[in-house]
This record gives sequence, C-alpha cells and structure tokens, in this order.
Amino acid sequence: MAKPSFSTPLGMVDILPDETPTWRALEQIIHEEAAKFNFQEIRTPILEPTELIKRGVGQLTDIVTKEIFAFKKGDTHYVLRPELTAPVVRSFVQHHLDQRGGVQKLYYIGPMFRAERPQKGRQRQFHQFGLEVVGSADPVADIETIAFMMRIYERIGIENFTLKLNSVGDPESRERYKNVLKEFLEPHRAQLSELSQQRLDKNPMRILDSKEPEDQEFITKAPIIQDYLNEESSLHFEQVKNGLNTLGISYILDPYLVRGMDYYTRTAFELSSPDLGSQDALAGGGRYDLLVEEIGGKPTPAVGFAAGMERLLIACEELNISLTDPTKLDVYVVSLGNAARQWALGCLPTLRAHGLSASMDYSGRSMKAQMKEANRELARFTLIVGEQELQDEQFVLRDMEQSTEIKKDLSALLRIIYQSFK
Ligand code: HAM
Repeated sequence: MAKPSFSTPLGMVDILPDETPTWRALEQIIHEEAAKFNFQEIRTPILEPTELIKRGVGQLTDIVTKEIFAFKKGDTHYVLRPELTAPVVRSFVQHHLDQRGGVQKLYYIGPMFRAERPQKGRQRQFHQFGLEVVGSADPVADIETIAFMMRIYERIGIENFTLKLNSVGDPESRERYKNVLKEFLEPHRAQLSELSQQRLDKNPMRILDSKEPEDQEFITKAPIIQDYLNEESSLHFEQVKNGLNTLGISYILDPYLVRGMDYYTRTAFELSSPDLGSQDALAGGGRYDLLVEEIGGKPTPAVGFAAGMERLLIACEELNISLTDPTKLDVYVVSLGNAARQWALGCLPTLRAHGLSASMDYSGRSMKAQMKEANRELARFTLIVGEQELQDEQFVLRDMEQSTEIKKDLSALLRIIYQSFK
C-alpha cells in the first residue's frame, strides 16, 4: 500500500527551525520599536464573523469577493482573518477601549489568510505587523504611523523603497469626487472590465485600484481627487505632508492610490520596493475615520498600517541583510558509557541554571559522532566524560574556538566556563 503523503496547503509554508531565529529577531525589533513609540500589543482570534469582514473591508473588494477563506459551523459564518484593521476595531468597540481614556495606540503581529494565487511574496497564509491609532483625527497620528513603519525598515537597513501618498478625502469630498469620476467613466462603461462596470454603480473609486488592462487607459485620464477635496481634507493632507517633510521622510504623491479596502478616508499610503519583483508592496495603510461607526461604535477617527513580514524578509535576503547571528550552543556535554551519560544528564541543569545553553547526545552515539554534532551546533565548549574521567573525577573541557583542552575537577572547569561567558 502506498504511504500517505501530506504537505502544507497551497500557498502556506512551514517556518522551519533554521528560519525561526530570523522571525524572532524581526518580531523582537517590532516589539522594541513599538515600545519606543508607546504602542501596546493587541491579539485577536484568527477567526472572525464573516459579516464583520464584509462590512469592514467592503463587499466589492477583491478580498471579500475572491479571497476570503470562509466556512460555516452551526448557524455561524466565519472567515480566517484576511487583515486586522476590522478585527482591531471590532475589539475596540466590543471592549469599550475608548473608556481606557486617550487615544488607543495598538500594534499587532500575526498570520492573515487570503486565498490568492500564490507566487513569490504572495501566500495564502502570510504574516503582518501593523498598528492602529484609534481615537485621533490629528495629522500627528498619521505622521507617527508612517514614521513607525519607516523606522522598522530603517533599523533593518532596507532603504531602497518608494512611499506613495494620497488623500482619498472625507465623505463630503468623496461624494463630490465620486460623482465627477462616475460622470467621466459613464460614457466608457462598455469598455471597462466587468468588475469595474459593477463598481461604477456601487463604488466608482474602487475602479482606480483595478489591475485589469482594459481599465488602465481610463484610470490614467480620470480626474484626480485632490481637485475635489474640501478645505478640511486639504488642510489635513497639507499637515501630513509638512510633518513628513519635517521628519525628512520622502514620498511621492500618487493621486490614483486608493488601496484595496473600502474603509479609507483622507490619508492613504503604500510603501513599495524594487527588490521584491511583481509583489512589490511592502506595507500600506491610511486613515479610516468611518470604520468604528460602521462596525457599531461611536464616531471615532483612526489611522493605521500593516506590513507583510514575508516580503520584508525577501527584501532582506535580496540585500544580504541578516537579522541574526548564527545560534551558538554554549556547552555540549560529550559522554561515553551509561554511567557517564547519567552524569552528563545531571550536569545539564547546573549549566542551564547559570543561564547557559547546554545539550548532550540523545542517541547513544560514538564520541566522534558527538563531537561532530557539537561542531554542527557551533558549541563554544565541549565537556567530555567517560568511565575513566568519572573514576578520577577529572573531566576534559575543550575550548572549541581555540582548539585547546584542559583536564580538571568539575568545579574548576565550571568556573572557567562561567568566567568566559561573563
Ligand atoms: P494590505 O495592503 O492589504 O493592507 O496589506 C498590507 C501588507 O500585507 C501588504 O503591503 C503586503 O506587504 C502584505 N500582504 C498582503 N497580502 C499578502 C499576501 N497574500 N502574501 C504576502 N503578503 C501580503 C491591510 O491589510 C490593511 N489592514 C492595512 C491597514 C492597517 N490600513 C489601516 N490600518
């Protein structure tokens, strides 16, 4: 009978032991920088009610129409979360986080799910880090959000990117712009893609986000929203740009940037990198002043961004940036014979209690095989014990870096080991 054979679902990958140190290093950087910006971490379930994502992200977005993993259990419809802005807002409303006072500055790290066609930099389970500032309409919140995002890449040493910036206006400006856009596109309705034809009636601004070739000609000739922003939105946009100028963050204005979700108002931005190939968006975000109310809360302005962690790591690889030093083992205890193995086993807790990493052979292998393993694990020291050593109570300490050996009693050797890690 053929052996069963299983592998990860399409577009999903295992993060293997050689890779987890890099992920942990990246997570560490995010936690450290978030603390410096005084953001607090939030963790929400992997599953959310389908209705939340439909309402939050938008019925006609690609995410909702094509990409959600959905299922029903009992009478409830669930989705695997495709993003975290709507869930964070759900949590904010559900737990009355506004009652904690002040602006809620939240950040997150975690897996998201989108049933897209997998390719390099595009997975069906991928990871994002991001933040959401809930409760501030001030341009400072937009500027700090962008500054945090840029800080992560700067710290890692990824500098080759473009920050695209736009304002998609407030409801009043959008209404005016939508009408103008619709008037402009209506005569070309028949030439637009099928999806854009649907969007023309329901949400014409989404058409600007279309990747369909037949739509491009009309998108590039379309009127731009900047000409229809009211005074408040114009001023907000000016203040965001001024703030970025003050911080020395360069950007290019892209009047057709609308992003993939319906919740954006005013500021929208995207960071892209030429090191990524076709999936070039490293991160994106913007303001979403209506979403809290849409999800059942009081009117509350908010802004945030999210970044793809796999894409950040691809950029690191392209640029030969390593986030980790090779993991080194402090002490490998080499033992020969049953009694020596028992002794080695008892030695490990002592070493670990001193904050050192310590390991031994788990398979009863030869001394040569154990030394080979110690080398592979980049052990700094090997502590070697056989029957003779046990009898004499004199053990061998091999300094693997210097290739030197000494023989002494255990407490003398432990002193040498501890001293060298001080
Ligand atoms: P988004 O642009 O859909 O925004 O996703 C943010 C980032 O996640 C993208 O720039 C990309 O790096 C990464 N990403 C998205 N899809 C995939 C995929 N299939 N495979 C690998 N990486 C992917 C959001 O999710 C919004 N929630 C951002 C936001 C937060 N807006 C306001 N607050």
